[in-house]
Amino acid sequence: LQNQVILAIESSCDETSASVIINGEVKSNIVSTQVIHEKYGGVVPELASRAHQQHILPVVETALKQAKVTKNDVAAVAFTRGPGLLGSLLVGTSFAKSFALALNIPLIEVNHMQAHILAHFIDEPKPQFPFICLTVSGGHTQLVLVKSPLKMEIIGETKDDAVGEAFDKAAKMLGLPYPGGPMIDKYASEGNPEAFEFPISEMPGFSYSFSGIKTALLYFLQKRVNEDPDFIDNNMADICASFQQTLITMLLQKLRKATRQYKVKQIAIAGGVAVNSGLRNEIQKLAEKEDLEVFIPQFQYCTDNAAMIAMAAHFKYLENEFTDQKVSAMPRYAL
Ligand code: KG4
Ligand code: ZN
Repeated sequence: LQNQVILAIESSCDETSASVIINGEVKSNIVSTQVIHEKYGGVVPELASRAHQQHILPVVETALKQAKVTKNDVAAVAFTRGPGLLGSLLVGTSFAKSFALALNIPLIEVNHMQAHILAHFIDEPKPQFPFICLTVSGGHTQLVLVKSPLKMEIIGETKDDAVGEAFDKAAKMLGLPYPGGPMIDKYASEGNPEAFEFPISEMPGFSYSFSGIKTALLYFLQKRVNEDPDFIDNNMADICASFQQTLITMLLQKLRKATRQYKVKQIAIAGGVAVNSGLRNEIQKLAEKEDLEVFIPQFQYCTDNAAMIAMAAHFKYLENEFTDQKVSAMPRYAL
């Protein structure tokens, strides 16, 4: 049997990444994180696409080298088609199309959100179908019923902000640097999650909303800082712990409800916010209480990476799901 070598590219936001997968096994996963956005307090799209342009070739070369293959061994090239920032997606899309054209090999387009979920198939233990995945990132918050590698149904999602956005915006209000999620996580681990109370948004069905809690935090901080200018500095850990705990409660309430309604025994988390240590702990507790099996990917496969794109491409390759040179990037791309 011939070796099925796939090169995968991820460039949807501020990570330029390339990965090589051979017969379903990830052999390399090179991620170059753009630090330039830090001083602007968020991703600047124009700067992101320029940085992708600079990093893509060295990242691909390193990924091939680490996997001990050359470009002539590559049987197909995959790329993130969307969702994401158009200028960023265009760099990976154009690169992959040129690569495919030059080597006369097939092209595979990948949905970034589907790939976040398929990151669960990189390492053992792997979930069995069907399972429910809570996908939490900077741009999305979704409860997904995963029926097979390529058949997924969104059963609930946020009606406004993504939970990662709530983390990042809260961090900004607290004067913490971008990206705020990891900073809130760090402070939260030293604080009391019951110190302050924030409102849980009541949403119908499996829908989420995170804009209310963001506004609640803003008013809370304004009032307290008015009374005591040092309030934030003196209470950083407790504010972060309480705020984070409220977000986690909202996320897991709906997840629990979904597992009962869909009678699913396996749950998973994916996306950048799945790195959060509070969420990882609480989902473990939920699983024990509800007698569920829980799947949590390694950190490196939660935040944006090309290994998950490679894994998705592997499944598409098996199903002969290829695209052609007419394909273009799609900033909005439903699961
Ligand atoms: O999946 P991802 O890398 O990129 C998107 O596709 O959006 O997710 C990025 C998001 C950011 O909002 C970031 O603050 C959040 O994931 N994040 C965290 C943590 N690490 C990253 N949020 C909470 N706790 C963390 N430890
Ligand atoms: Zn992502």
